[in-house]
Amino acid sequence: MNRLGGTDGCGATAAAARDAFDVAAVRRDFPILDRVVRGGEQLLYLDNAASAQKPACTVDAIDHYYRNSNANVHRGVHALSEEATLLYEGAREKAQRFLNAQRSAEIVFVRGATEGINLVANGIARRLQAGDEIIVSQMEHHSNIVPWQMACSASGAQLRVIPMNQAGELDLSAYAALLGDQTKFVALSHMSNALGTLNPVKEMIRLAHERGVQVLLDSAQAAPHVRIDVQDLDCDFLVLSGHKLYGPTGIGVLYGRAAALQDLPPYQGGGEMIRTVTFEETTYNDVPWRFEAGTPNIAGAVGLGASIDYLERLDWAGVHRHEQELHDLATEQIGAIEGVTLIGTAATKGSIVTFTLADVHPHDVGTVLDTRGIAVRAGHHCAQPVMDFYSVAATVRASFGIYNTREEVERLVAALQGVREVFL
Ligand code: ALA
Repeated sequence: MNRLGGTDGCGATAAAARDAFDVAAVRRDFPILDRVVRGGEQLLYLDNAASAQKPACTVDAIDHYYRNSNANVHRGVHALSEEATLLYEGAREKAQRFLNAQRSAEIVFVRGATEGINLVANGIARRLQAGDEIIVSQMEHHSNIVPWQMACSASGAQLRVIPMNQAGELDLSAYAALLGDQTKFVALSHMSNALGTLNPVKEMIRLAHERGVQVLLDSAQAAPHVRIDVQDLDCDFLVLSGHKLYGPTGIGVLYGRAAALQDLPPYQGGGEMIRTVTFEETTYNDVPWRFEAGTPNIAGAVGLGASIDYLERLDWAGVHRHEQELHDLATEQIGAIEGVTLIGTAATKGSIVTFTLADVHPHDVGTVLDTRGIAVRAGHHCAQPVMDFYSVAATVRASFGIYNTREEVERLVAALQGVREVFL
């Protein structure tokens, strides 16, 4: 690792994985996967959609930052402040390259996707008036519903919802019909956390732009699974969470096209986001710092930068192939278990498999799996409208990441057979 904890700290195994995706090499980069839990069970981590594990290089980069360079950013004339600023702004450039944004000023560091959406919704709300409409889809996470409801209730605007079919695919003709003169903004899930559906967002953005309507993509789930190119997608805003991208918690990215960000009013007031302050008047800093009031999560940005470096070293075609294989195997084998109903069977999906098992409560399924060391998520996944659509209170979700293996899918399937024996 160099003095500033630079990218050479990202591990020889990741470099080896670059030529051809090698899951065994990737696993060696994630020390937590060696954990034994519940009195002797080898951990099987399948809750990646809630939060992914971190490679050692990310943990090392954060550790190195605190041991060597910790100081506040943008404020000091001293050596450590300069180092911290270089690291923080360096992480912004890494996020820019990762998303193929045109400039680093289009990258705002936020706490996570939720804060990014709230920041944008708060600004858009000020432009809305009664009769205006915001479009979201039926499969949104609560974080891409509630901020827009708040924007609507503050302005008298209305929320319109793109319906989906039983497979969990959005109805594009209904979407086209919803887009009208009254539409002021579209906020879309890129990949559903509850269903795994990958939405045809490029086409949906094109349709909105034909009417001059801006689009925000919630890419919290998509970012770990598909390469994102904001210029190719042509989105106006995009959010992601660091902790789902094999990075730290408490840090995320809001991408905003330069002109779109420029048009947003400040979100929070405080230090850093200003240029001058008097009691009579305040003038604001340039974008993106205008949106980063207060001391930012410097260590989080450093860690996220290290995770991005790590991911950039992987063979992404191999990552896609691997994750798709895990998804297909899990879908086939879990779907074949007597009593299982798969929830979300879209033709285009990321590596999430969601299901119910007869009338066994998903929490009971999750609890029994946990006794065997298997971590899944059971619940409504912060997507209650999706649960309502399928008339279920909750589901079980197995979500796969770069380090999961076919053997792990088979272990999950065997454990689910065991759950059947306990309850049915
Ligand atoms: N949104 C996260 C999930 O789907 C927490 O689990």
